[in-house]
Amino acid sequence: MKFYLYRWQEGDKTPRMQEYDVDIEKHRCVMLLDVLEVIKEIDPTVSFRRSCGEGVCGSDAMNINGKNGLACITELKNLKEPVFIRPLPSMPVIRDLVVDLQEFYNHYKKIQPFLEPQQTQPTGERLQSPQERDKLDGLYECILCACCTSSCPSYWWNPDKFLGPAALLQASRFILDSRDDKTRERLEQLNDAYALFRCHSIMNCVDACPKGLNPNKAIHAIISEMVKKDI
Ligand code: SF4
Ligand code: SF4
Ligand code: FES
Repeated sequence: MKFYLYRWQEGDKTPRMQEYDVDIEKHRCVMLLDVLEVIKEIDPTVSFRRSCGEGVCGSDAMNINGKNGLACITELKNLKEPVFIRPLPSMPVIRDLVVDLQEFYNHYKKIQPFLEPQQTQPTGERLQSPQERDKLDGLYECILCACCTSSCPSYWWNPDKFLGPAALLQASRFILDSRDDKTRERLEQLNDAYALFRCHSIMNCVDACPKGLNPNKAIHAIISEMVKKDI
């Protein structure tokens, strides 16, 4: 099976697409990550990130035949040949398929991704009703792979100011958590023409998420909370 990989490293004038022919039967490759591991053996200069191999760590996010996804859960049988593999769009390339996620993590840091309860330390667990816990479904599963943010045109235009779908989905995860007492402060911080309101519901994020999450719905949940609290 034929694969074209984006190749660029410091010192190269321009990037190029390099062809690799991999015998997927012989190497028993099922997922795209299996192929990348074989390519790495053929050509150790190829760079990409990966860790868990199970769709949990989010490190092997890349652009596969024009769509963002995780190599480890992308089945070869579903890919049109030849397969074009590029780094995540809009992120600065460090080398080959490895991108610089610093801005992405800066935005994540800004939403303060931890619970901030004001009450004094309880003697036992901080309990939630089943209904309160249900509100976190579709949010807590985010693995911060950046597939959504790097596919979002609003983020391409304002990567320094628009927080992007991943950070906003994470923001809603803490805003909607009954154990957090900083809801108003979190909402006030997001009430900004760029941080949140650059989302124009283009929905690329929903299409790109390999975990089947819906950042656009999460963004609208934040706006509803703002309306409820008259912010
Ligand atoms: S719905 Fe909003 S966050 Fe998602 S891709 Fe579109 S503009 Fe970006
Ligand atoms: S919402 Fe989905 S695509 Fe975006 S970072 Fe989380 S898991 Fe990845
Ligand atoms: S290697 Fe961890 S998500 Fe693919």
